[in-house]
Amino acid sequence: MRELEGKVALVTGAGGGIGRAICRKLSSLGVLIAAVDNRMEPLQNLFEEINYHGGKATMLVGDVSSRYDVNFVISGCLRAYGRLDILINNAGINPTTPQWDSIPEKEWDDVFAVNLKGPYYCMCGASTPMKDAKWGRIINIGSIAGKTGGLLSGLHYCASKAALMCLTKNFARILAPHGITVNAVAPGIIETDMTRSWPEDGKNSYLKENPLGRMGSADEVAHAVTYLASPAAGYVTGEIMDINGGQLMD
Ligand SMILES: NC(=O)c1ccc[n+]([C@@H]2O[C@H](COP(=O)([O-])OP(=O)(O)OC[C@H]3O[C@@H](n4cnc5c(N)ncnc54)[C@H](O)[C@@H]3O)[C@@H](O)[C@H]2O)c1
Repeated sequence: MRELEGKVALVTGAGGGIGRAICRKLSSLGVLIAAVDNRMEPLQNLFEEINYHGGKATMLVGDVSSRYDVNFVISGCLRAYGRLDILINNAGINPTTPQWDSIPEKEWDDVFAVNLKGPYYCMCGASTPMKDAKWGRIINIGSIAGKTGGLLSGLHYCASKAALMCLTKNFARILAPHGITVNAVAPGIIETDMTRSWPEDGKNSYLKENPLGRMGSADEVAHAVTYLASPAAGYVTGEIMDINGGQLMD
């Protein structure tokens, strides 16, 4: 896919399982990476890996739930590359709170701040250079839990992802006249640090209902994101693409 060569992608949550896979995949196609995470160490490892394979990356430490930090990382990307073509809103948190009726107030606020307000700030900030270029691709990482109500995730997480998938459609309408498409993917259970600590019996009962009978990989999410980022997806906007092994067919 040479048509993505030279484009610039800002990927949030780049230090985690799905974020790294997206950075690796896009970098292998010649995309210049602005990798954002609130943890420095995994960003450093990613930087070394991308450099080793001949790619180009800049690392930006920031908390997506802070408008100040988002402005800082977007200016950092523009300073490094002079443009911003692709935004991947991937940073997310999923605290495992067993009690649905006693979720602490701070945890509610944190989940919505990272999973919903963060993508909102990033879309607002990234849309300015994209509008100037009259071209842009935004991909939000939603979740099957936002469609089904979830079984293994907290209800605050499910609600934040449902809202993010709605926000995707709002922004798809707002930014379409500027040549910017806005889509989301809704992964099922993907093997990353986020799901590694989940109880095995919970995962097994979920997988019993899964036609493909397995968890997905971060690379499989990265492939779908790459398609949505590409010029080939030029007529796709406001779409929520399932990547769930057939767990939910809607
Ligand atoms: N793993 C799954 O099964 C699954 C399924 C559906 C959706 N998702 C979504 O995919 C995305 C990536 O998940 P993952 O499985 O790779 O998780 P992960 O925990 O491996 O990675 C998440 C990354 O986001 C970063 N992050 C967290 N809060 C941040 C903040 N405030 N600012 C900047 N960075 C922050 C973390 O440091 C981490 O590197 C999340 O949005 C998640 O909700 C995951």
